[in-house]
Amino acid sequence: MGRASRPAANVHVGSAVLTPWYKKSRMAFIKVGPLQQLPPGSAIHVEVGDDAVAVCNVGGTLYAMDGICPHSGGPLGYGALDGAILSCPFHGWEFDCRSGAFGGNEDLKLATYPIKVEDGEILVELA
Ligand code: FES
Repeated sequence: MGRASRPAANVHVGSAVLTPWYKKSRMAFIKVGPLQQLPPGSAIHVEVGDDAVAVCNVGGTLYAMDGICPHSGGPLGYGALDGAILSCPFHGWEFDCRSGAFGGNEDLKLATYPIKVEDGEILVELA
């Protein structure tokens, strides 16, 4: 997997946000799939170029956050969703899809992305 050597995600520590260089120049909504593939209570893993995004449907509201677990690269979108908490399929670290927060710690977050639905398609803005 080519992603292993790159920083997996934006990492928020306190007020600092570390953004990999390759993510800084893009800002566009990109189609990631049909809404019908993401019923409430489910999550999906999507890849857009070199980016992986976990998209969650929490009671009908969609959220998107970085899709690679900072622990050891687990694809978060393949994890189990319980309410707004997405568990990594590899070792069970838990992230809040709404904020990207790890383990309930609002000071340690994955990046989250704007998301919308148009004409039945899910679009995520990668920045
Ligand atoms: S890779 Fe996600 S918890 Fe270990």
